[in-house]
Amino acid sequence: VTEIRGLIERKKRGEALDADELRALCRTVVDGSVPDYQLAAWLMAVCWRGMDAAETLALTRGMVATGATLDWRDLDRPTVDKHSTGGVGDKTSLVLVPLLAAAGLAFVKMSGRGLGHTGGTLDKLESIPGFTVTLPLERMRAQVRRIGCALVGQSAELVPADGRLYALRDVTATVDCVPLIASSIMSKKLAGGAGAIVLDVKWGAGAFMQSADEARELAAALVGIGGGADRRTRAILSPMSEPLGRAVGNALEVREAIDTLRGGGPPELWTLTRELGSHAMVLAGAAPDLPAAVGRLEALRDSGAAAARLEALIEAQGGDPRVVEEPERLPAAPHRELFTAEGDGGWIRRVDARGVADAALALGAGRRIKTAPVDPAVGVVLRVRTGDRVAAGQPLAAIHARGAEAAAAAVERLRVAISLSDEPVPTPEAGFEIVAGAVA
Ligand code: URA
Repeated sequence: VTEIRGLIERKKRGEALDADELRALCRTVVDGSVPDYQLAAWLMAVCWRGMDAAETLALTRGMVATGATLDWRDLDRPTVDKHSTGGVGDKTSLVLVPLLAAAGLAFVKMSGRGLGHTGGTLDKLESIPGFTVTLPLERMRAQVRRIGCALVGQSAELVPADGRLYALRDVTATVDCVPLIASSIMSKKLAGGAGAIVLDVKWGAGAFMQSADEARELAAALVGIGGGADRRTRAILSPMSEPLGRAVGNALEVREAIDTLRGGGPPELWTLTRELGSHAMVLAGAAPDLPAAVGRLEALRDSGAAAARLEALIEAQGGDPRVVEEPERLPAAPHRELFTAEGDGGWIRRVDARGVADAALALGAGRRIKTAPVDPAVGVVLRVRTGDRVAAGQPLAAIHARGAEAAAAAVERLRVAISLSDEPVPTPEAGFEIVAGAVA
């Protein structure tokens, strides 16, 4: 207990802790020998004083060492992983995992659940009838050997230190600290064992990072850790001011992901998936360059191979694979109504991601507290994007609700989220920016 006091003191003065000290500190996080208040004091000191790159890498390694790590070296194909810092309507993993598996890579995606305004991949997957997100390790390994992919919940055996630290950060206002975010994210990626890692770092009103500069700083920290741990790592900065794609809500998002894998869906979802996927292929050595990777991904989509791989994935995890050919088998909400433009119409000035997420939350698509259930069927499907011209009375979104009362609550929120202008508004560019590490 005296030792941790010394570490807190030194961090408070702005000194860097060394790898041995950070490893020991992480061990105390899981062995319970240090009380919450001391860990919280250290976390707050890190927030104020920061950590340099070497220290952030050492903290990440210390966190990884608190739990199990996965080893895929016996596989006959390269392994990839992906992380998104989260946004509204982000169903990219549902498209990317089967797509890259069809491209010959091994992709085990461990995901989380939604909380607040961000959705969670696990909640989306569970809207597929029968689908299970918990697989015993040996079954998961056999599945990856057979079909190259798995989509599961984050294993509690990997990085147990992260669970306690994150819970403490949540209640001590120490979440928004770059070295703490970066070590939390990358410790789970390193423990997952993939050789190549792509990171989708989102910025904007609907994202964790509000500005491109903040996203750049986080991306540099993430890529620095990846490179320092000998993983080929790249970050793609992508804007998140409006939702990604059109659908926000669990089954609705699965349906949009299926459409996208089959060559339909909103173009911006495919554009981001292709960007992340092509970088993953190059990093993993599965394509010589980005144009070749893009060509291969498009061919896998157009031939139906990627959609077939999603069917195989759903079947392997107990779900009904017929949803891929017949998405109407997904849960559907009983009450539908259209949200229409008021006044004389005009141009869409803004589709605020958080506002749309609030509407989906009001319908029951998300959860306000960790333990709440989600309604798989409900949500919002946008009919417009920023810059679109709309006529008076034109539908701006479709609301999928349990009943009229919930739909009315969603309408109230959409009225604030979607704003119109009398003047033309430019369509936002996709605007990706790549942050690559020394070994990527
Ligand atoms: N996601 C994580 O996994 N950890 C953080 O600290 C923030 C986002």
